[in-house]
Amino acid sequence: MKICKTVQEMREQCDAARRSGKRLGIVPTMGALHEGHLSLVRAARKSCGVVAASIFVNPAQFGPNEDLAKYPRNFERDCELLKAEKVELLFAPTVEEVYPEGAVTWVTVEGLSEKLDGRSRPGHFRGVTTVVAKLFHIVQPNAAFFGRKDAAQVAIIRKMVRDLHFAVEIVACPIVREVDGLALSSRNVYLDAAQREQALALYRSLTRVKEMWEAGERNAARLIEAGRDEIGRERSVRPDYFEIVDAENLDEVTNVERGTLVAVAAFVGTTRLIDNVVLGE
Ligand code: PAF
Repeated sequence: MKICKTVQEMREQCDAARRSGKRLGIVPTMGALHEGHLSLVRAARKSCGVVAASIFVNPAQFGPNEDLAKYPRNFERDCELLKAEKVELLFAPTVEEVYPEGAVTWVTVEGLSEKLDGRSRPGHFRGVTTVVAKLFHIVQPNAAFFGRKDAAQVAIIRKMVRDLHFAVEIVACPIVREVDGLALSSRNVYLDAAQREQALALYRSLTRVKEMWEAGERNAARLIEAGRDEIGRERSVRPDYFEIVDAENLDEVTNVERGTLVAVAAFVGTTRLIDNVVLGE
């Protein structure tokens, strides 16, 4: 695996890969890799001749009171995991490399970026779209692979790609869960044993809504109430949002059809977790 620390090095490697006529896939990450990330790498491997990954803890997508400083970092272990998956290229730049001194240019997907996580984390999605746009310019991949756990992120990146005419296919891969349903997340390492149990309330709330929908309930207000109720049973979990929205434009819906996104965010201790389910899938 070739590790590139600079934009120029990464560009040269990606240009060479594309010249060889192979399809180039990128898996953007912030490191602290788990099976969810590795499932993206495996999906990329299935359809791409060259697989690239990036590891960059992007300061622009963290708010001032968020966990940037303590975000889990384990570069050596991440490299071993990527090597085991035979990833050909890794982009691991410094903050200064990605945001050169004096950089003042941002990419914002207006409207969508203020919904769901964007409402509770102002500026978060501007940071995400800016860094992903930079990556797309540097790598010029044929395809980019993202996890569906960050459902709003996927919707926003798809919109950015359409609006800015990026020639990249966005592939959204299924959420990977522990056997008891907890969605894998780099932030799960913050949870102690008791919090790990409490965190299951998120999955339970989604499961309850899914079961009600499968039994015929289509009224969003009633489904949301049931989901919030379920979260409320776990008193140490503090809900941030529980919403039922159109998976593409993230607008709230009243009548819940197949393909609608049910999304939840909640604090377990100081750890903010998200999860979601798409109905009918
Ligand atoms: O999903 C993530 O890990 C990040 O938001 C991403 C897409 C790598 C951008 O920093």
